[in-house]
Amino acid sequence: MNYKTCSNEQTHLNHIDTINLGAYYTPKWLIEIVYSLIRKAAVNLADYYILDTSCGYGGFLRGAKAIGADIDEKAVKTAKSAAPQARILNHNSLFEVSRLKYGLDDKAKIIIVGNPPYNDVTSIIRNRIKKAEFLRDADLICRDLGISFLLSYNKLEADFVSVLHPLSYLIKRANFEALSQFKDNYRLIDALVVSSSVFSAASKTTSFPIVIALYKRTPQAMNYEYIRCFEFKSHEGLSFSIKEHDIISNYISKYPNHKVVDISETVAHFHTMRDINALKRAATFIKKENHNTIRVTKDRFPYYCYVDVFKEYIPHIPYYLGNSDIMIDDDHFRELKPLFINRSIQKHPELAGIIDLKEYSNNDNDIEIERYFQQLLGEHYVD
Ligand SMILES: C[S@@+](CC[C@H](N)C(=O)[O-])C[C@H]1O[C@@H](n2cnc3c(N)ncnc32)[C@H](O)[C@@H]1O
Repeated sequence: MNYKTCSNEQTHLNHIDTINLGAYYTPKWLIEIVYSLIRKAAVNLADYYILDTSCGYGGFLRGAKAIGADIDEKAVKTAKSAAPQARILNHNSLFEVSRLKYGLDDKAKIIIVGNPPYNDVTSIIRNRIKKAEFLRDADLICRDLGISFLLSYNKLEADFVSVLHPLSYLIKRANFEALSQFKDNYRLIDALVVSSSVFSAASKTTSFPIVIALYKRTPQAMNYEYIRCFEFKSHEGLSFSIKEHDIISNYISKYPNHKVVDISETVAHFHTMRDINALKRAATFIKKENHNTIRVTKDRFPYYCYVDVFKEYIPHIPYYLGNSDIMIDDDHFRELKPLFINRSIQKHPELAGIIDLKEYSNNDNDIEIERYFQQLLGEHYVD
């Protein structure tokens, strides 16, 4: 076995092809975690075909009944020598998806393992991809390639699915809904969250949470409330659930609201705030309206000041909450409202006239604000 297959790091593609194929291969220690989750669920691996439909160099393929496939011919060549016991195929795993394509009949018991590519198929670089590589069955079409792969596992009626994917597929409601048939047939039974920075080649951008998820095919599948209540474990040993925090979208609009708020009621403009990682990169208050701004009304203005100040504290938020909505403890915030408003006005003097400052004390107390965030995040606060 050569160095490549020992470390499982992908070395044969250029930068653009790596992005287009989502070819960030999985470090071996993460592959071990995938198998430890399967073993913990008391699944006897020998009873199953182990299938990785985006297998790269075959790092996930184990046992005598292993089958791998990849669209990348060179990767397949390496996989054949790295996992000689496995059956390796070179095809597009999202096109004409069926068990037959893998030589499996209806009775075969299947565990899907792996790390499917995840990227936004509408991205600019991806437009350069060859048409044949882009073909997907109509029922698998989705903006994100990784979600298409999850839907393909459902089409194969795998008994278990143990793969890595962005945590945002589960915790963002729109993504969760896009999991359509997959969420209707599978239930998340175990999950460990790691940072995307563990993939050395992909670490240049802001880290985001990746979940190593184990799903079981069952009629008692999952709805969004199930995910909200799910106790996710982080690789660092902490637990968290979505429902543990109140979120800013319960108080203000996060997206352009030009159709519902009249310009005459608008006192300021604020940039769209998809999630915490997006806020980290984006502006907050903006002087001029554009198609990405939210109209701020006087009564909601304090909450936008809150988000403006929240942005300063993002370095204290762990990566695993990076794709979450901006959290708030509304009761505590109401007590400290003047501090947040003052802090925001200090940064954006043009906002000074919006609120009658007599209503508020002029006492900008950084320690109080810091204490607020320490309490809000509890054990998740990063020092
Ligand atoms: C994140 S890598 C994972 C590779 C390997 N499972 C690992 O983790 O080491 C994703 C792989 O999916 C492959 N891929 C992308 N689109 C595909 C498609 N439509 N059909 C099959 N494989 C595809 C890429 O070539 C790449 O090898």
